[in-house]
Amino acid sequence: MGLLVFSSCCILFHAATTTVTSTATTYRDTTPKVVVSSKNASGYNFRWPGPIGHRVITVDANGGGHFRSVQDAIDSIPDNNRMNVLIQISAGVYVEKVVVPVTKPYITLQGAGRDTTAIEWHDRASDRGPNGQQLRTYRTASVTVFANYFSARNITFKNTAPAPLPGMEGRQAAAFRISGDKAYFSGCGFYGAQDTLCDDAGRHYFKECYIQGSIDFIFGNGRSMYKDCELHSIATRFGSIAAQDRRSPYEKTGFAFVRCTVTGSGPIYVGRAMGQYSRIVYAYTYFADIVAHGGWDYWNGADNKNKTAFFGVYKCWGPGAAKISRASLAQELDYEAAHPFLVKSFVNGRHWIAPSDA
Ligand SMILES: *[C@@H]1O[C@H](CO)[C@@H](O)[C@H](O)[C@H]1NC(C)=O
Ligand SMILES: *[C@@H]1O[C@H](CO)[C@@H](O)[C@H](O)[C@H]1NC(C)=O
Ligand SMILES: *[C@@H]1O[C@H](CO)[C@@H](O)[C@H](O)[C@H]1NC(C)=O
Repeated sequence: MGLLVFSSCCILFHAATTTVTSTATTYRDTTPKVVVSSKNASGYNFRWPGPIGHRVITVDANGGGHFRSVQDAIDSIPDNNRMNVLIQISAGVYVEKVVVPVTKPYITLQGAGRDTTAIEWHDRASDRGPNGQQLRTYRTASVTVFANYFSARNITFKNTAPAPLPGMEGRQAAAFRISGDKAYFSGCGFYGAQDTLCDDAGRHYFKECYIQGSIDFIFGNGRSMYKDCELHSIATRFGSIAAQDRRSPYEKTGFAFVRCTVTGSGPIYVGRAMGQYSRIVYAYTYFADIVAHGGWDYWNGADNKNKTAFFGVYKCWGPGAAKISRASLAQELDYEAAHPFLVKSFVNGRHWIAPSDA
């Protein structure tokens, strides 16, 4: 690529002096060659180059790699990273709390398989952090990503705190929090109970992932597509899958579940209106017979969320499917209304997700 890049402080990146290799990050490699022009908050145009160059770091708990811990590997990457960095993590259980800071985009965590490589920790919302304050839900995640262009493949993320009984307080325990934009996950496992996956902010694509939990186990204000994922409930007396936190009609956030399977134990609500303008759609999804009467929940009855939240269903099936469409709070969508939630343009995926991911 022979492209020059202008940032606001006039640094030039001479891309011609480096090469972009395309061996390891297959679905990203279409991206770096595209220079995207966009406007910053003051309306100036700037050009975004994508990452330049490529590097592999290995992590092995037994000492056979560059590092023994995942965080050590991330710490070794300089701030303002501009390279595709593949962190290859050998089979094993890595008991550590991991953070990918906002200054380190373009990192991929790749495990040896969802069943063989896991990162796990055990913080709960009521636990106290180093400053003596309670962590609260968002800071419990075993792995937290603030950076953009993160991806993870064939690896599991767990929070191993014991599952709470319904009504117990302070037991939220996230396995993973994604707060960066344009994150791609494939073949990953997310294991927890209450609040497993914090789909906090940004555009995200989850492909063939396994997500397990009991209460609101996918939650936040992300704009995300879940494709071919298994959503597995371990609820004992009552549970819920997705709690989406869209707060205004101008936000483009929402959760689209496409061709997923809903399994496990119930009864569960399939969606809850965490934010006033919550948006949740299930399409072509299988539901085992674990759906609670009514199917969905407005979180509380006080603020007329029944007028502002959007729960949609399109061509779902299985023994539990009737409970989320007919006689539920959701709308049965027609093709026209469902279409925006079925395609990767829901997350603007055309520029950052490979053509093979429809
Ligand atoms: C937008 O870009 C212009 C020109 O590069 C710069 O002067 C300005 O500070 C930038 N504004 C923001 C909010 O980043
Ligand atoms: C991830 O796992 C799947 C299923 O085992 C396998 O087909 C794929 O090649 C793996 N991908 C990588 C990058 O290891
Ligand atoms: C919405 O809920 C309020 C009370 O929370 C109720 O008075 C109202 O009739 C409901 N509206 C619809 C359209 O169901």
